[in-house]
Amino acid sequence: MANFVVSLFSIIVLLSITETQGRNAYNEFQAPSPDSNDGICKTMVETQGYTCEEHKVTTEDGYILSLQRMPAGRSGESADKPPVLLLHGVFIDAVVWVFNSPNESLAFMLADNGFDVWLVSSRGTKYSRGHRSLTTNDKAYWEWTLDELANYDLRASVEYVYNHTGKQMHFVGHSLGTLTALCAFSQQQQQLLNMLRSAALLSPIAHVNLIPSLPVRFAAEKFIADDLYWLGLREFIPKGDVAAKFVERICHSLKQNCKNLLSIFTGANCCVNSSMIDVFLENEPQPSSTKNLIHLSQSIVKKYDYGNEEKNMQHYGEASPPLYDMRNIPKEFPLFLSYGGHDLLADVKDVQLLLNDLKDHDVNKLVILFKENYAHADFVMGVNANKLLYHPLITFFKVN
Ligand SMILES: *[C@@H]1O[C@H](CO)[C@@H](O)[C@H](O)[C@H]1NC(C)=O
Ligand SMILES: *[C@@H]1O[C@H](CO)[C@@H](O)[C@H](O)[C@H]1NC(C)=O
Ligand SMILES: *[C@@H]1O[C@H](CO)[C@@H](O)[C@H](O)[C@H]1NC(C)=O
Repeated sequence: MANFVVSLFSIIVLLSITETQGRNAYNEFQAPSPDSNDGICKTMVETQGYTCEEHKVTTEDGYILSLQRMPAGRSGESADKPPVLLLHGVFIDAVVWVFNSPNESLAFMLADNGFDVWLVSSRGTKYSRGHRSLTTNDKAYWEWTLDELANYDLRASVEYVYNHTGKQMHFVGHSLGTLTALCAFSQQQQQLLNMLRSAALLSPIAHVNLIPSLPVRFAAEKFIADDLYWLGLREFIPKGDVAAKFVERICHSLKQNCKNLLSIFTGANCCVNSSMIDVFLENEPQPSSTKNLIHLSQSIVKKYDYGNEEKNMQHYGEASPPLYDMRNIPKEFPLFLSYGGHDLLADVKDVQLLLNDLKDHDVNKLVILFKENYAHADFVMGVNANKLLYHPLITFFKVN
């Protein structure tokens, strides 16, 4: 990528600029109370005339994740096709799949095409903040990265859907959701793969190249060096005070104003409905763990690097973190990959590295769709994604 880190920044910048400035509060993030009637089903799905069920699954390490199921299309006819599980990216949650109108949103379209649709929200986001023994105020709650998302959240969600329906499912990931899946697939988690029919990866992220430009490198170093984590800040809230200060510091050091920084770093989304952005910001962005962001700013093709050999030894039995080798992904596993020419998170060069890893993949099991005009958010929020992307994706699911 030229720039995973940087794009994370641009998201943060974007959000801290657009969000109301004066509200200070790192701790203002409030989860809905568990009994309240304001889950994704009630607020986003039933309002569009679709049936929706709320579910919960507990991961092996104790995190309680919320899932939503849409078992029928808008006509009310029950699904006659396999389940599809959708996994969102970083700083957002499952809302992203049902955000546009039913004719434009992937989740609704899948339901209308007879699929049994399941959404899941990752640990730490608004609807998935429960834990068997910890609360979100405990530092230990935030001790996780991509590694745990791949090994626990993904497995628990897939297993839950499989147990509940008795059927193998298709998977759709966006952004960090693709990285999570690719990490799991690369470890050849056979049990997991046995529950899946295929995977569609939108804006796939598997590599992070060295960052070429000076401002970008600066941001990355700043981030890695940043002692948020060591200062004890475990939960990273993009709209919070801390994020805003952090961004301010970067802008200041670069002698740039943040608006320019934004245009330098953000991929230009061609097709997101701008009048929806305010609505989007009411619910998003969602928190992540600081440790996860540190991991994402390291080489993501390895597990989390504790930064010294002794600690890595303790965790991995090796001095450096184990690799995620995408060449290990089983060659006959059906994959649909779509990436965009303007995407800074899933940069074209980095996607090409992934495609190179997959060069021996069974050609009949690999569909690649390049969208020249698309940037990161277009894949989930583009108003023309239904025609350009979701129709071919649905066709792919129908034959796999
Ligand atoms: C959505 O799609 C349905 C079915 O294809 C069509 O009947 C309806 O007019 C569309 N609605 C909008 C708002 O485009
Ligand atoms: C799924 O079912 C298996 C077998 O009964 C059980 O061991 C596992 O815990 C279940 N997983 C989930 C997430 O419900
Ligand atoms: C963009 O959003 C507005 C406000 O929700 C809506 O009225 C309009 O139809 C949307 N445009 C498209 C192309 O979806």
